[in-house]
Amino acid sequence: MKENFLWGASTSAYQVEGAWNEDGKGPSVQDNKAIPEGTTDFKVAIDHYHRFKEDVQLFKELGLKAYRFSISWSRVMPNGQINEEGLAFYESLIDELIRQNIEPIVTVFHFDLPVYMAEKGGWENRETINEFASYCQLLFERFGKKVPYWQTINEQNVMALAGSVIGTSNKSMKEKFQENHHMLVAQALVTKHFHEQGHPGKIGPAPNIASVYSATDKPEDQLAALYMSALRNWLFLDVAVYGIYNHNAWHLLESIGAAPVVTEEDREILAAGTCDYIAFNYYNTMTVSAYYEKENKIDQQSGFGIPGFFQSVSNEHLPLTEFGWPIDPAGFRFTLNEIYSRYRLPLLITENGIGAKDTLTTAGEVHDNYRIDYLKDHIEQLELAIKDGVDIIGYCPWSAIDLISTHEGIEKRYGFIYVNRTEEDLLDLARYRKDSFYWYQKVIANNGL
Ligand code: BG6
Repeated sequence: MKENFLWGASTSAYQVEGAWNEDGKGPSVQDNKAIPEGTTDFKVAIDHYHRFKEDVQLFKELGLKAYRFSISWSRVMPNGQINEEGLAFYESLIDELIRQNIEPIVTVFHFDLPVYMAEKGGWENRETINEFASYCQLLFERFGKKVPYWQTINEQNVMALAGSVIGTSNKSMKEKFQENHHMLVAQALVTKHFHEQGHPGKIGPAPNIASVYSATDKPEDQLAALYMSALRNWLFLDVAVYGIYNHNAWHLLESIGAAPVVTEEDREILAAGTCDYIAFNYYNTMTVSAYYEKENKIDQQSGFGIPGFFQSVSNEHLPLTEFGWPIDPAGFRFTLNEIYSRYRLPLLITENGIGAKDTLTTAGEVHDNYRIDYLKDHIEQLELAIKDGVDIIGYCPWSAIDLISTHEGIEKRYGFIYVNRTEEDLLDLARYRKDSFYWYQKVIANNGL
């Protein structure tokens, strides 16, 4: 592994911070969404807002070279006005990371649109593009010199394709792809501004990318895989890297009456705001067949179907996590290669991990061998991808510390650090190092060997 490889770990604002209405923060759509019965809301989360120094200390002990987190838009610009107290929190967090020699990697927007904007139509309203540009401008001005890697939007493809699952948008395909188009324009606009202003860091998108396998060697199924990949993966990266829509994805959207309205000015912005690198999240691959009119359950990782084009099917070769997501380390190598050969830009993995029900023993230990196995298998494939010739900046598994899952509560844990709380009871929110903590500490110390 190259010397400056960024061994990191990730979180997002609403899943860790808590303090949902403190120090001037306004509500985001995550604060207002319907919470599935039996799971916690995000009001306290793991109380990172009040405990960030203790958490960063643990990240330091873990040996992280980088920490990827997101900034809460409704904390720094509730109602469109600047909230200095909100900005001060991120300034302190960034400064604390830098003091500990941990590179701050910032995602500007991770699923948490301010409610006042959602009430005005959210991303469907073109005004949101300008609001986003002002918000980013503020962040670039305040933190542009301190942050080496910026990500514009986390998993825009998941918001477009499974927004109802993660609580971001529950509209028709036509409306969602208009929202999606406005997000693409917003992303390009801020990327263009970032470059014009000469900030020292780099900027890129952060979609969830999954290579798509064909269920059989039937030509119809192969074509189905091509179409799913175009809609789920390449639409987002072709615009970010080349500034143009992917032709297969566009054809699919037109065929189902969901193609967005795109103006000439939009096209110019898309072409002028292309990214420096590609950040992406990887959990598993997808497997599809041609569409045979079966109902598909929607989930951000287990897939979906589009009548006439493709439908997700299960892959009998892949084991499942206890939450039903396939485990496919070799697919990680495949995905890394596929992205790199299409775009030839450096890649940063911003999420990869296993959600599981951990148990804290009376001795304060967590024996999460399944997490160690999962990460070890993926890191091995990452190293093989590097040997294949893929240029990789760093690896930031999900998650640095336990957090609240998008729709399955705290019970679905991902972290290297256990946080003592349940769905119903906040307990003492104490932090415990899991076995995977000590294991990852060694991986980092040995630079992956
Ligand atoms: C990604 C998101 O979809 O996967 C994270 O960027 C999320 O916010 C992670 O937590 C795991 O998904 P889930 O649904 O298990 O929380």
